Amino acid sequence: MEDPILLRDAAALFGVKVDRLRKAASEGRLRVRLVGTQRLVVPSEVERFLREGGHSRAAVQPVAAQGGDSMARIIAVAIPKGGTGKTTTVLNLGTALAEQGQRVLLVDSDPQASLTLALGLESQGLEHTLYSALKYYLTTFRSQIELAIQKTEIGVDVVPSSIRLNRVQEELSATVQREFALQRLLAPVATRYDVILIDTLPYLGILVINALVAAQEVLIPMEPEYLATESVTMMLEDIDFIHRSGLNPGLSVTGILLTQVDQRTVIHRQVANYMRTEFGNRAHVFETMVKQSIRFPESQACHQSILQYEPDGEGAMAYRALAREILNATA
Ligand SMILES: Nc1ncnc2c1ncn2[C@@H]1O[C@H](COP(=O)(O)OP(=O)(O)OP(=O)(O)O)[C@@H](O)[C@H]1O
Ligand SMILES: [Mg+2]
Repeated sequence: MEDPILLRDAAALFGVKVDRLRKAASEGRLRVRLVGTQRLVVPSEVERFLREGGHSRAAVQPVAAQGGDSMARIIAVAIPKGGTGKTTTVLNLGTALAEQGQRVLLVDSDPQASLTLALGLESQGLEHTLYSALKYYLTTFRSQIELAIQKTEIGVDVVPSSIRLNRVQEELSATVQREFALQRLLAPVATRYDVILIDTLPYLGILVINALVAAQEVLIPMEPEYLATESVTMMLEDIDFIHRSGLNPGLSVTGILLTQVDQRTVIHRQVANYMRTEFGNRAHVFETMVKQSIRFPESQACHQSILQYEPDGEGAMAYRALAREILNATA
C-alpha cells in the first residue's frame, strides 16, 4: 500500500506547481485526504491526474473510502499535571487495543522517555527516535519517521523518545509552522495504523501543542483528587485555545479517564461523582475507571504492560474495557 504525502511534496516529486494540485483537489479532480489542515495525496493518484491531463473525474471518491487507506485515529493522552497516568494509559490502552485487533502506534513525545523505558528500550542508545526524526524534519521539512518506528513484543509499534527531545523544543520554537511538525511527521505512516496514541509532557509547551495539532482527539487521565479537577479545567481551556487559534478546530475530547481510583476512600467516590456532574456536559467521562494497584508500577518495572503482567487482574480488565468503550464510540 502506498503512503500518502503532502501535496507540496507531491508537487516537488512530479515537478508541477503546488497550486495546480491544490486547485485540482478543491475541484474534486484529484483525490486528497484532509488530516487536520494538511492535504495528503498518494503519488499514484497524482500520476493518474497528470497522465489524464488533469481532466478526469471518473475515479473521484474520498481516499478514506478505500478500506485499507483510511487514516489512523490519532489520540493525544494529555493533561497539564504530572503523574496522573498518561504514560500508563498509553502503554496499557495501546496493548489492549492491539489485543482487540487494532494496528497501534505509540508515540513517546515526552523527553522523560517513561514510555520508551517502560517498553524496555534504552532510549540513550537509540539512533532513531522522535528526536532524530524531528531534527531531520527541521532541516529538510520531510518525514523520516519510519526509521524511528520499532516493533515491540506487546504487539504495538513505538516511536521512542530520548532526553535530547528537550533540545528540539528550543529549535522548534525558532522555526516556521512549528506547531505542525509532528502532524507532518506522522502523516506518511497514518494509513498503516488504526490508532496512534501520543504520550505527552505534563505542561503545555511546543511539544504538547504539536501533539494537540497532530491529534484528532484528546484522552484526559486524572486521579480523583479535587486539585486534579483544576487540571482538567486547564486541559479543556488548552483545547479551546487550540480551537480558537485555528491550529486544529476539529480537536475533540475522547473522554476523561479516572485512574488510580481507590473506591474505599470517600473522597475518591465524591470526586468521581463530582467529575460526572461538573464536566459531563463538556466532555465524556468514561464509564471505565482504573483502580489503584501496585501491579501497575510493578509491571512497568518489568517492562511489561499490565495485560501481560497480570492478564486476568482488574487493571488488565479495566484497560480492555476502556479499549472497547473507545472503539464502540466510533462503531
Ligand atoms: N492505576 C494505578 N495504580 C497505581 N499506580 C499507578 C496507576 N497508574 C499509574 N500508576 C503509577 O503512577 C506513577 C505515575 O504514572 P504515569 O507515569 O503513567 O503518569 P504520567 O501522567 O505519565 O506522569 P508524567 O506527567 O510524569 O509523565 C507511575 O509510577 C505508575 O506506575
Ligand atoms: Mg508520563
